[in-house]
Amino acid sequence: MTQQNYQSVIDEIKSRCSIVDIISPLVQLKRAGTNYKGICPFHNEKTPSFVVSEAKQIFTCFGCGASGDVIEFVKRYHNLTFPEAVERLALQCGISIPESYGEQGKKKEGYYEINRQAARYYYSAFSGKTNPGLTYMIGRGIEPSVLKAFGIGYADDSWDSLSGELTGRGFERNMLLELGLVSEKNGRIYDKFRSRVIFPIINTRGKVIGFGGRIIGDGEPKYLNSQESIIFQKKYNLFGLNLTRSEIQKEGYAVLVEGYMDVISLYQHGIRNVAASLGTALTQQQARLLKRYTEKVVLCYDSDNAGIEAALRGSDVLRKEGLDVRVLNVPQEKDPDEYIKKNGREAFLALISKKALPDVEYKIALLKKQYDLSDTTQSIKFLQKISGILRTLTPVEADLYIGKISGEYRISEGALRREVQSGAGEIDLSGPVRPEAHEKPEETAKPDGSSLSLERMLLRLILLRSEYLEGLREYPEAIITARGMRILTVFRDMFTEDSDLELEAVRDALDEEELEYLEEILREVQVGEKDEEAYADCIAKLQERRLEKRKKEIIDLLSLAEETGNQSQLDNLMKEYMMIQQMQKR
Ligand code: CTP
Ligand code: MN
Repeated sequence: MTQQNYQSVIDEIKSRCSIVDIISPLVQLKRAGTNYKGICPFHNEKTPSFVVSEAKQIFTCFGCGASGDVIEFVKRYHNLTFPEAVERLALQCGISIPESYGEQGKKKEGYYEINRQAARYYYSAFSGKTNPGLTYMIGRGIEPSVLKAFGIGYADDSWDSLSGELTGRGFERNMLLELGLVSEKNGRIYDKFRSRVIFPIINTRGKVIGFGGRIIGDGEPKYLNSQESIIFQKKYNLFGLNLTRSEIQKEGYAVLVEGYMDVISLYQHGIRNVAASLGTALTQQQARLLKRYTEKVVLCYDSDNAGIEAALRGSDVLRKEGLDVRVLNVPQEKDPDEYIKKNGREAFLALISKKALPDVEYKIALLKKQYDLSDTTQSIKFLQKISGILRTLTPVEADLYIGKISGEYRISEGALRREVQSGAGEIDLSGPVRPEAHEKPEETAKPDGSSLSLERMLLRLILLRSEYLEGLREYPEAIITARGMRILTVFRDMFTEDSDLELEAVRDALDEEELEYLEEILREVQVGEKDEEAYADCIAKLQERRLEKRKKEIIDLLSLAEETGNQSQLDNLMKEYMMIQQMQKR
């Protein structure tokens, strides 16, 4: 479930299930005026002092003082945590929590397991004895050790070898369908990947999330990929990163390519800081994923027009993430795979150091090809286009390039500067991203802003200092989103007395959406110098909220006590209310 609707599930529960319906199977209730009365389940008593109000949707016990709403009742009665109580009630009143934390994780595990077994199945078909897949890959020059590292497999030509195997092991056909391992026709399922080399797509947590299958030889479609599923969202993943991320960190930059074979081929030739964007347009999420490991990216897409287009768009996406981008087109050959196969590692490294251009220069070099600079009219057009590009940069960067470009293309520096500042020029060839074009978050309705920012601040603080985890135990209400709760659970699992949380380990334990939330927090939440003060501030807010909540409760309870004519309860509630107000003044 996405974060915005956890709160709405809670609201939905409160509006959909009547507190009387929930309590009455557990506590014998008798009607008493507009309310219900029974023996309190929270303390020992003989005469009923436990009152449930249908109208106010609360319970209270005049004996022991227990009181609250339906969620509070379920929590206390069954001894559950708040989210567990929410989950239980949602189930009971038929409200779906599509991604309640925990449940969702368990569900996903089942799908990962199927993919894992499918990958093993393809792998053993590939490596057991000669087969067309192996022959094809060896023919393309890939060594057995590399094939093994990537877990390359083979899907044979039969219509039901994988599906037979997996249904035989008891996996549900619906799950196989959802994962795109099989297709259905006239009520029968058949294998989707046939006569193909299989490239398992593995995320940075080592889970097989999907597959790519290449046709052996020529034919269409050349590649068949798993459809998106509950465990496979293309936009969050890069092919190869599971094997290459430490190398990317070590080298200080990543080589980003288009295809499966580019990754495998570069890897084999010793360029191991590489990953592929899976043939799609590079997404902001993929850029963020890379940024976890490096600040620098060399974008090395195919040299055809589609590749150039994709590189232009991709470089904007990477730049927007604050990455230092260089763009490289391999000369002569179609793609990095073919280039390195022919020319080897050293030649490829030389290309990176000599021919990879900073994104801005790459764009300008492309533009230059389109204009005849000996013609005045065309020169002016060229100047305007360049200005459009420079205008998307920070002033410092723009200034740097103005000097450089005016020297290189013999354009008057003053003219270029005026053009950039005037803002009259047309905008570039591919529409680089300007600040206002920043992606809007997909969520629309969010839980109230201050609760959300409190949650984010607390999660950020725990990452700074694990000991805050302990303090937060007393305030389970502080974490309100499902993603936040998952992250907190991971923090708790990973925390040991003698070591702080390791960010990298935490990241590996989160799924893509949770991770995206965590990265957003790391990016956007500023703690400042004094984390103790920030933490104390959060706790003060939480306490204040509790007091406010209790005041509202008291008002409800007061009218209930009035109805039931319980004078001593009335007095106590009045006293408590006044006490709270005094505390708040302080
Ligand atoms: N791709 C895809 N579906 C296709 C074609 C391409 O998903 N029908 C993706 C694959 O991830 C592929 C990448 O786009 O690796 C690049 O495509 P292309 O350049 O056509 O293939 P190559 O990577 O060069 O593959 P090969 O070397 O095997 O021909
Ligand atoms: Mn290729």
